[in-house]
Amino acid sequence: MAYQTLKEVLAEAEELDFTVGAFNAHNLEMVPAMIEAAHEEGAPIIIQTSVGTAETEGMRNFVAVCKTMAEHEAVDVVLHLDHARKLEDIEAAIAAGYSSVMFDGSLLPFKENIEKTKRVVEYAHQRGVSVEGEIGTIGGTEEGFTVKEGNYTRLEDAVQFLQECDVDALAVGVGTHHGQFQSKTKLNFPLIEELHAHLKKPMVIHGGTGVAESDYHRLTENGIRKFNVGTELLVAWTKKAKEKLSKTEVNESLRNNMIPCNEEVYQIIKHKIALFMNQK
Ligand code: 13P
Repeated sequence: MAYQTLKEVLAEAEELDFTVGAFNAHNLEMVPAMIEAAHEEGAPIIIQTSVGTAETEGMRNFVAVCKTMAEHEAVDVVLHLDHARKLEDIEAAIAAGYSSVMFDGSLLPFKENIEKTKRVVEYAHQRGVSVEGEIGTIGGTEEGFTVKEGNYTRLEDAVQFLQECDVDALAVGVGTHHGQFQSKTKLNFPLIEELHAHLKKPMVIHGGTGVAESDYHRLTENGIRKFNVGTELLVAWTKKAKEKLSKTEVNESLRNNMIPCNEEVYQIIKHKIALFMNQK
């Protein structure tokens, strides 16, 4: 059990036919609870941070917590930079010790996405770091970027992208939206099946909060190896924080309020990992 790359945990998921949960850490405080949930389920976990959260909390601080817990809690942990759009953010994360990065060139013209992703792959792989790329777009809002309607991934684009870019995982647009927490989406399963039949790479679902849990099994069966959940954790943590802090004395120990917030995140992750692992 160790600090791992995305490539390593996805290879295991492919071999044993399960999906690895990738959970967005919205602060440093919740990370130990996230990793403990994976440890409890005996599963690997991908902790991911947006560029904004990473900068606010300190990339090296995330690395320190993830590495320490991977080594001492007997759990495989990947630390992944989510949706980086600038090369300098990727370089900073790799210098700090992240084991995986996403280069999101999905809003760029197709050729430019390929060119830039190739450069990231070369840079990251030389340093032993994995790379996730994206083809098609995921609708919704994340970190100030709004994509009104997601564009479905086109098979021919994905094939060409993978011929040119040796990414370790591919994020696909199949009907999900970032930040969808009040309803569930209708996934385009015919497209997912088509992509799975032709692409040899592990695929990634973004906007996992808006995916019905009853769809998880079919996604695993169709080559989804990384499944991102962010908003559901944020909403649960914030709701609990509002509830607790509204009733608290200003001099009450902070841990009395933070432990219940982290416990919400722990329970959600434990539940989802159990679903991702138990696919038979
Ligand atoms: P949600 O916040 O909608 O769960 O999406 C998370 C995600 O895909 C991060 O990239």
